[in-house]
Amino acid sequence: MLPPELTTHGARLGEARLRALMAADPGRAASLLMAHAGIELDCSKQRLDRASLVALVAHLEGLGFAARRDALLSGGIVNASEGRPALHMAYRHGARVEGSDAERLVDQTQAQTRAFAERVRAGDFRPGGKPVSRVINIGIGGSDLGPRLVADALTHHAEGGPELRFVASLDPSDLQHAVAGADPETLLFVIASKSFSTQETLMNGQAAREWLAGHVGEAQAGRHFAAASAARDKAVAFGIDPANVFDFPDWVGGRYSVWSAVGLSLETGLGPDVFAAFRDGARSMDEHFATAPLERNLPVVKALVDFWNRAVLGHPARCVAPYSARLALLPGYLQQLEMESLGKSITPGGEPASLPGGALVWGGSGTEVQHSFFQWLHQGSDVTPVDFIGIARHFTSDDPRERVLAANMVAQGAALLDGVQLPAGDDPALAAQRSMPGGRVSSVLLLEALTPATLGALLALHEHKVFVESVLYGINPFDQWGVELGKVLTKGILDGELSGYDASTRAMLARTGFVSD
Ligand code: F6P
Repeated sequence: MLPPELTTHGARLGEARLRALMAADPGRAASLLMAHAGIELDCSKQRLDRASLVALVAHLEGLGFAARRDALLSGGIVNASEGRPALHMAYRHGARVEGSDAERLVDQTQAQTRAFAERVRAGDFRPGGKPVSRVINIGIGGSDLGPRLVADALTHHAEGGPELRFVASLDPSDLQHAVAGADPETLLFVIASKSFSTQETLMNGQAAREWLAGHVGEAQAGRHFAAASAARDKAVAFGIDPANVFDFPDWVGGRYSVWSAVGLSLETGLGPDVFAAFRDGARSMDEHFATAPLERNLPVVKALVDFWNRAVLGHPARCVAPYSARLALLPGYLQQLEMESLGKSITPGGEPASLPGGALVWGGSGTEVQHSFFQWLHQGSDVTPVDFIGIARHFTSDDPRERVLAANMVAQGAALLDGVQLPAGDDPALAAQRSMPGGRVSSVLLLEALTPATLGALLALHEHKVFVESVLYGINPFDQWGVELGKVLTKGILDGELSGYDASTRAMLARTGFVSD
């Protein structure tokens, strides 16, 4: 339930004019602007004031947040439905696990993946007798989205090394595209799968192996594979050399796994030092999350703002618009992180949650999306808060294109805020259609520059933000039971278990040849 105090603030601010809020309190902007680890968070265009922010912080504290955060960071069982901690921060030394088995495993795995990546990069790992020229990551969900985003964002930081490709879809063209133009003898496939039983990943792994066997022979094909998995035995049974199977413990959730051995393709393609800098940036955000006062704590304040918009002001979605082509995959990555974590409506006690759970997250790369769905943001009947992700260096770049990109981001925030009311003039109907309501809120996350460290900090900020939101919504952010049913039914259909389906589904199966009706 929302405490009455938040409901009262919501009623007071829900229709407030943003310009009026700014005029009423000149100190407001400063209280809604904060920075850490090369990232500035600006929430001054949100329909919030200092009193409501204080009330939100008090509400979070009242939910026992300090103890919940402590449990998270020290390896408590925060994922109750699966009886596990969530210790992905251990991979960036941002958790309090000194002397534990978790720390030993992290240190050991990191030494192993670094050594492997260095061998590959030095041309000393030669599965086909030649240096590896291309690494192809095969995975899906968290075993794909994080590595794919980081690879795309940081290719300009790679110091030589093999090129990186990704395969996630069961559409055969995905694998065909990934191997196109490559010398099979120079390929390394990394199968990233915590369970090593995900259907898409296993079928793509098998297809890759068969394709390779056709070129280098069955006996040689297995040598071109490495894996990151919690199911070592299954990876070995697949035919991967045990020395090339890197552990992915069950206390790392798939969508939180890019820091772990799942980052093997990144460590190999971008280089171990780039990957370490990425983790260091995340650790800096971990430390900030653990120690900064709540009202100046970036993940906490971002969570409070997103909760305010969703649960108090009733906006069911949030748009993420990175103004950097290198961050074009960020909306998809955040979609999994946030929606697989917060898309729930039952509490850990099994009761229906009294609050709605996390918002729908969607978006795309600015300025391209200005020329598509931004129309809906400006004049559609639904109000959707926007997160602009920008790069500060673009504002002073020597390249005019970067300055224009940055200026567009600022202009969009201002346009959403103020809108425009055109005078009726000779054609009031046209003036009305060309007017924009304004009053539409946005936040900005401004990275000093896009570096391995700021990207790491940006992702860690969102991970912790999701945790804070889970406390506010009263749900477990670390399980994902909702994705299981579809997997079970798919298997049943493929195994010929076709009874019990509704008429529409039966008709579809009949049309597509799975069953005769
Ligand atoms: O189906 C969802 C999911 O369980 C994600 O949480 C996970 O990232 C993905 O599948 C892949 O799972 P795995 O790494 O076990 O192949």
